[in-house]
Amino acid sequence: KHVVVLKGGWSAEREVSLMSGAAVAKALTNAGYNVTELDVTPDVYTDLVRIKPDVAFNALHGRWGEDGCIQGLLEILKIPYTHSGVRASAVAMDKIAAKAMFRTVGIPCAEDKLIEGAALFKTDPLPRPYVVKPANEGSSVGVVIVRDGSNLSPDMPGPWQSGSLLMAEQFLPGRELTVSVMGDKALAVTELRPLSGFYDYEAKYQDGKTEHLVPAPLDDEMTGRLMHLALEAHRVLGCRGVSRADFRLDDGPDGDGIPYILEVNTQPGMTDLSLVPEQAAHLGISFEDLVSWMVEDASC
Ligand code: DAL
Ligand code: MG
Repeated sequence: KHVVVLKGGWSAEREVSLMSGAAVAKALTNAGYNVTELDVTPDVYTDLVRIKPDVAFNALHGRWGEDGCIQGLLEILKIPYTHSGVRASAVAMDKIAAKAMFRTVGIPCAEDKLIEGAALFKTDPLPRPYVVKPANEGSSVGVVIVRDGSNLSPDMPGPWQSGSLLMAEQFLPGRELTVSVMGDKALAVTELRPLSGFYDYEAKYQDGKTEHLVPAPLDDEMTGRLMHLALEAHRVLGCRGVSRADFRLDDGPDGDGIPYILEVNTQPGMTDLSLVPEQAAHLGISFEDLVSWMVEDASC
C-alpha cells in the first residue's frame, strides 16, 4: 500500500506535527508500507492528485489538519484517511461545541463561557480562578490562568492577541489524566505529573519535564470510570480510529472526586514522548502495530 503521511502544515502545532509525522513515516516504512512524507502547504490538493496514495495518514495537529478542513479535501478526493471524519473533527476542535455535546450524555465538564471581543477586560466572565484559552488550538498553545490578583490587559501577551475565538473555563485543580481510544476500546489511563507548573507546551514536548505514570495510580473503579467516559466522549462526537481524552480529577481532601473532561484530541500526538503510543506499548501493541492498524482502519 502506498501511504502518504501528511505532516507539518501551518498551524501553531507545526513543529509537533513534524515530529509525529517523522515517527509515523519511519514506523510505517519498517512495517513494509510504501511511504511518501508530505509537508502540507496550501497546495496540498495538487500534491495529493499527483501522489495518488492508497491511504492518507493524517499526522497533522491544530487548525486545518485537525478541524475538518483536510478531512473534507480527502473526502472529495476519495482518499481513505486515518482518524476522525469532517464533522467529529470540527466539533472536537471547537472546545465549546464539544463540551455542549459532552453535557448531553452527562460527561462532567467545567463551566465555560464564550468570550466575545473585549468583554474579558471589563468584567470577569467567571469567578476566579479561571482559564482563558483559544477555543480551537491544541498543545496548550495560548492558555492563560487568571488567578486572584492577576491583572488583565489587552496589551499583555495572551490568546486575545491572536484574534481566535476564546473560551473562559473554570480552573480545575487536581490530577492530570489522559485516556486513549483505539477503535471501540479504551487503552489505559495515564497520569501526567509535570515536574513544575502545569502541563504546558514545554512540559509536553521536552523529555524529562513530565513524569508519565501508566497505568495511573487509581483504584479499579476510577480507572474503569475514566475509560468509560473516554469511550463515551469518542462516541458522542462521532470520532473514528484513534482519539485521546484529557481529564482533571481532584481526589484530594478538598476535592469533589469527579473526573472532568477537558477535551478530546482527534489527532493526538504521535511523537516519541506521546501518550497514545505509550499506552499502546503498555498493552503490548508496538508503535509499528499501532500505525499499521490505523492505516488498515482508514476510510473516507
Ligand atoms: N495536540 C497534541 C498534539 C495532542 O493532543 O497530543
Ligand atoms: Mg489538545
